[in-house]
Amino acid sequence: MADQVLTISSLTLRRPDDWHVHLRDGEMLAAVAPYTVRQFARAIVMPNLSPPVTTVAMAQAYRARIVTAAGPDFTPLMTCYLTDGTDPADLIAGFEAGVWVAAKLYPAHATTNSAHGVSDVARIRPVIAAMERAGMVLCVHGEVTDPAVDIFDREAVFLDRVLAPLLRDFPGLRVVLEHITTADAAQFVADGPATLAATITPQHLHLNRNALFADGLRPHAYCLPVVKRERHRLAVRAAAVSGSPKFFLGTDSAPHAVAAKESACGCAGIFNAPHALESYAAVFEAEGALDRFEGFASEHGARFYGRPLNEGTVTLVREPVDVPDRVAGIVPFHAGERLAWRVVG
Ligand code: NCD
Ligand code: ZN
Repeated sequence: MADQVLTISSLTLRRPDDWHVHLRDGEMLAAVAPYTVRQFARAIVMPNLSPPVTTVAMAQAYRARIVTAAGPDFTPLMTCYLTDGTDPADLIAGFEAGVWVAAKLYPAHATTNSAHGVSDVARIRPVIAAMERAGMVLCVHGEVTDPAVDIFDREAVFLDRVLAPLLRDFPGLRVVLEHITTADAAQFVADGPATLAATITPQHLHLNRNALFADGLRPHAYCLPVVKRERHRLAVRAAAVSGSPKFFLGTDSAPHAVAAKESACGCAGIFNAPHALESYAAVFEAEGALDRFEGFASEHGARFYGRPLNEGTVTLVREPVDVPDRVAGIVPFHAGERLAWRVVG
């Protein structure tokens, strides 16, 4: 019927992966993991616990706790939190033993639980050189922390000051610039070498910085890197739906207790895991790019990380989902909104 030709009513994708997620630990891990597992086969798990995941033994223990919380159908891919003291030989031994999939560069004090991060990339050059030789992916939180740089410019300045020299000095290094938020970053990655890719979150596709101040201060729209101007959102959307293998799904789902968000000093992080795929689907549909959704969600990331594509599938149907005000006691992204696509299995 004409109707069916004009409007797709169901979408079956190869099972996707989340190339950037915060699963936390303890009770929070048990509460949030099922939402990621419901949609994703694998995820790159961020190591910014307190204390951070810096050793092979810590990663093995954390991975075991995740497997307990997530069950057998999910594969956590562990990342090493780099510090000024990371030992290159230990890191590469953990990578070659299959414990670490990637290492994470947090500039010190750039974001939640990053106090132990790297104070200056110059200090970890031997680590970076060893990663380049071993073919180990470097995941990057791409913001400078220089207090003289405006918070809305921290990503763009990072490209010039840190990332461009890093790629120049280590041309074989595989880098994922995570959660890109600006036209500058989208362009930098698109123009960069094949060793450079980027993840994109749902919130940076949906929100511009007005969301932070819509009728009052909105802590649940606050994450890092902070959402930017509308022209940046549009550029990030264009990159996501472009079909380029350099851009792929990474939710940066970052749950915080309600009291930690709704505070005089609210934490950065948006809990988008419950409806992540449905949120991305809305963007691809609005951009007339549903045919490119599978590449972004299920193929580009696996190829960049040199992993096999998943065998299973996930199906979304065009049925409204009303996002509740709380999920597992946490305020989810899109709380109180209606989304048009529903994951059914
Ligand atoms: C993350 C968190 O809460 O751990 N917060 C965030 O705003 N994205 C840390 C991070 O990825 O920057
Ligand atoms: Zn993150």
